[in-house]
Formats: sequence, structure tokens, C-alpha cells
Amino acid sequence: MNWKNNITKLLDVEYPIIQAPMFGVTTPAMVAAATNADCLGTLALGDLPAEKCIEHIRATKQLTKNNFAVNIFVNDIPELTDALREKYTETKDFIENIAREHHLDVHLPSIEEIQINSYHDQIDALIAEKCRFVSFTFGNLDEPSIYKLKNNGTLLLGTCTSVTEAVILEKSGVDIVCVQGLEAGGHRGSFSSDDIPAIGGLSLLPQVYDSVNIPIIYVGGIYNAKTLLATQLLGAQGFQLGSLLLGSSESALEQFEKQRLRDVDETAIALTKSFSGRYARGIKNVFTNLVDEGHILPYPYQNKLTGELRRVAKANNNSQFVSIWTGQSNNGYSGKSTAEIIKKLITEVENLYSIKEDRK
Ligand SMILES: Cc1cc2nc3c(=O)[nH]c(=O)nc-3n(C[C@H](O)[C@H](O)[C@H](O)COP(=O)(O)O)c2cc1C
Repeated sequence: MNWKNNITKLLDVEYPIIQAPMFGVTTPAMVAAATNADCLGTLALGDLPAEKCIEHIRATKQLTKNNFAVNIFVNDIPELTDALREKYTETKDFIENIAREHHLDVHLPSIEEIQINSYHDQIDALIAEKCRFVSFTFGNLDEPSIYKLKNNGTLLLGTCTSVTEAVILEKSGVDIVCVQGLEAGGHRGSFSSDDIPAIGGLSLLPQVYDSVNIPIIYVGGIYNAKTLLATQLLGAQGFQLGSLLLGSSESALEQFEKQRLRDVDETAIALTKSFSGRYARGIKNVFTNLVDEGHILPYPYQNKLTGELRRVAKANNNSQFVSIWTGQSNNGYSGKSTAEIIKKLITEVENLYSIKEDRK
């Protein structure tokens, strides 16, 4: 199989395989492992303040000489109104109560104590650190940011979950579109946090292919050779892996979280807004079952509010109050290294491809 295509050229890699950004899971070691396996690693920076972004980027540079991508969240931030302040306090009390009822004594931050960062603060840090590839999710970068990054020679990878979003990304000058199917683990990369397009990858990918002229990376549900090659047939030139790497030795998940992933079946995986205020796919638990729509603040407020709960639950090995994100393809969550998992996939693809070639 010839892996060379537009994506390998643009990303300067041997294989058009991308380790997905997974905030809270991706580590510098995972990114380095992916890039050292001649694929593209992606460092998830979420909404971290600029100085933290620099720290993580430098830690990754210590582990690899190869280029890697960085990923940021570019969502709008809802205005902090009196009504929102009031709802924040009510939700804080509600969540503290349910946590206490389940023997978790947490003190969540007041609205004055949380720090909301805008992605604009991150852009200069990424330019200063000479990040060659910037991927983003939860919307589109604004015009000045696109101009600034492209003027510095940065290649932009934007996430879409609908044809409309893909077309907007292309028109604004984004170089590569990352098509995220509904089956993907973690947060939906949709532009809106409420009315999300709920389109499966099998439907979305070929429609985006027919609607844009920039190269496409597909993400969502790729976990073996057949799923990878299926997305190639539908128009993908790049293949991004998320959940397949959750159990890897470089993943930041705790052992109890990796075990939980291996223990649950398909009926335990669902979309929920309860932890962050944006839809994300992961394992249902006591928290997702108890937090109803009336106690969910808009993103990023819910996310900031529940951060301390998740931290305490994690420290207590309590799987009922942490967010364990994962996609719909149960891949067994191998505990091997990122490089071994990726290399095994490459070999499987090459074997399957040569079988297909032989049958022609
Ligand atoms: C734990 C977790 C965290 C994630 N964090 C991010 C993130 O920080 N940025 C992002 O663009 N996507 C994030 N995603 C989405 C992934 O990049 C990717 O789209 C998804 O995992 C692909 O689907 P799959 O899990 O079926 O492979 C996350 C996914 C998971 C499972």
C-alpha cells in the first residue's frame, strides 16, 4: 500500500496517521511516540493559559525532534449575566449535595474563583514556540487569528461535524478539514454547543468530500484496518486515532479508568452535557445519571465548575464522578505503547490491502 498522499506531504510524515488530541489523556510522551513512529502526534492544549501551553510544548520538544501539532479550543464564551451567576450558584450547591450524598466531600469554586481563558491568549504563544501545525475544535478561529497564524507559516487543521461547518472552514483559509463523525469519543467538535449536528461518519465523510477541495482527515470510530480503509474509500486521506490510544502506556488515564473502559459494554457509552456543558461521548455513571438539564451551565462554566469534583473523584479512584470519554468502537483498549498500537494498525492495513490487491 502506498501511504503517500497530500496529507503526508502537508504534514511531512511517512504515514497519514494522526494521534488525536485528547485533553486530559494526551501526554508529551504520547505525542512524541506518535511522531517518532513517523505519524503526526497532537498535543492537546484545550483552554490552558499561554504559559502552561508553552510548558507543555517545551516538554514535548524535549522528547522529539520531529514536528507535532498542537490543538486548542476556539469556542465563544457566553457573557456572564446576573441570571448566569445565579444559576452557577444553584448548580454548585446541587452538585456539591449529590457528591456529598455519595461520600465525596468537595468544595467547588465560586464564580469569582474560576478562570476563563480565551484562545486569543494562546495564539501568540503558539507562534512564539514556532508551532508548525495548529488544529482546533469547537468552532472556527476568527479572521485576525487565521491571518496571524498563516502569516507565520502555520498550517491550520479545523474540525467539522457537518458539511456547513466544513465549507466555512475551507472558505476561511483552513488548510485541512478534520471530519468528526458522531461515533467519536470525547467532545463533539461542533461550532454550536447546543444544537449539535448528529451525523454519523459514514454519512458525513462522503458529503464533505463532495463539498470541499481541501484534504480531509477523518476521525471517529477508526480502530482497525477495515475501519481505516473504509474511510479511505469514502474520501479520507488522513486517519486520526482517539479511543484506540486511551489504554496505552503513555495515556494519562489512571489504571482504574483504563480498567473501567475495558469492563463496560456498548450500552454504557452515551453523549452527555453533564460534565462540561458541551456534548461529549463517554461512559455513563452516577454523575451523568443524576445531573439533569436544569443543572447544566453553558460551556465552559459547567466544565470549570465540575473540574474540582473530577479531580477529587480521580484521586479517590471513583469512576462514578469522573468523565471517562470514549467512542462507539470498543477496541479492547490495549495497554501497549502508542508506537506499538500504531505500528500494529499500519501492518494490519498493509496486510489487508495486499489481500485486496491480490483479489483484483
Ligand atoms: C478523552 C478524550 C479527550 C478528547 N479531547 C479532545 C481535545 O482536546 N481536542 C479535540 O479536538 N478533540 C478531543 N477529543 C476528540 C478526539 O480528538 C477525536 O475526535 C475522537 O477521539 C475520535 O474518535 P474515536 O475516539 O472513536 O477515535 C477527545 C476525545 C477523547 C476520547
